Amino acid sequence: MKVPFLDLKAQYDTIANEITTALQNVLDNSAFAGGPFVTQFEKEFAEFYKSESAIGVGSGTSALWAALVGLGIGEGDEVITAPNTFIATAEAISVCGARPVFVDINEQTYNINPELIEKAITPRTKAIIPVHLYGQTAEMDNIIEIARAHGLYVIEDACQAHGSEYKGRIGCMGEASCFSFYPGKNLGAYGEAGAVVTNNTELADKIRMFRDHGQRKKYYHSIVGWNARMDGFQGAVLSVKLKHLTDWNESRRKNAQLYNDLLVDVEGIITPTEADYAKHVYHIYAIRCKKRDALINALSEKEVSCGIHYPVPLHLQDAYKSLGYSDGSFPVAERCAGELVSLPMFCELTQEQIEKVAKEIKHFLKRQA
Ligand SMILES: Cc1ncc(COP(=O)(O)O)c(C=O)c1O
Repeated sequence: MKVPFLDLKAQYDTIANEITTALQNVLDNSAFAGGPFVTQFEKEFAEFYKSESAIGVGSGTSALWAALVGLGIGEGDEVITAPNTFIATAEAISVCGARPVFVDINEQTYNINPELIEKAITPRTKAIIPVHLYGQTAEMDNIIEIARAHGLYVIEDACQAHGSEYKGRIGCMGEASCFSFYPGKNLGAYGEAGAVVTNNTELADKIRMFRDHGQRKKYYHSIVGWNARMDGFQGAVLSVKLKHLTDWNESRRKNAQLYNDLLVDVEGIITPTEADYAKHVYHIYAIRCKKRDALINALSEKEVSCGIHYPVPLHLQDAYKSLGYSDGSFPVAERCAGELVSLPMFCELTQEQIEKVAKEIKHFLKRQA
């Protein structure tokens, strides 16, 4: 029995009819770039997030970029974030002309450690981007308190955390929350897409302009923007899939619980911690193992596919050499990067598949002992 890391076809099979109808509708209306299907999804996603506005864009990277430029962040500014994220978080900061400043993470949740943020603040700091890594919200109250005390914006990178809760609530807690709908996400498009959710009307208006060449009215450009629009097919697909998101997240949580039960007290690995303030949606179920690479090879021999999110923290990537960090700058993020392994996680995983993964992990650890 093979256990893939992710199986998008298995999910598609459960909604194929709804998707076909939705795509046909876009074709019948020739509504391909932006348009009514994107607007409809924006309305539904804003409602889901109990927020004033959702603005559809072309990717999660564009969502982060649009939120930053919309808040006027650019040349000479600094933005604080975590080093153990997908590079897009930092790229969006760099592309705006600002400088990413990294802060180490909490070893239990893998999210930015609020206790270390203040030390990284300088007169140039304009914003903090907590990343809700793997589907678990960062410690937002502490982060927002620090941001208020220093007059900083908080932009949530929620690209991995669709529907995750903080202290029993779902919603945009900072100035803006940015989402990716990359196909493998908990809410994934059938192509590239993203969104910004905000309660700031002025910011929403600016982001709508930035994503569409700085125009409110066609060919009348108030500012220099970009083409970062969501396409009509993605809007239609996302409207269909949003209706299933809560159930899908529950399935992921059940799968995570089964992994936790089967791997409880197994020596040689650390299973994920769900913080007491969080409702984790397990975009990724990552465990830690000191013999990570050997474990991945052993699982692969048994047809279990795993991933690593992420093998090299951003401060050690060639692309960010110029920031001047080095080995040892962020010891927790570095240690975790060498030990984390993401196990297969998707809604349609069967109990037998999860049992097989757990069994093979235990066999591996026994052989190592
Ligand atoms: C934490 C995080 N931020 C940003 C992004 C960028 O999203 P996209 O790939 O849609 O541009 C991703 C996507 O993988 C992500 O996981």
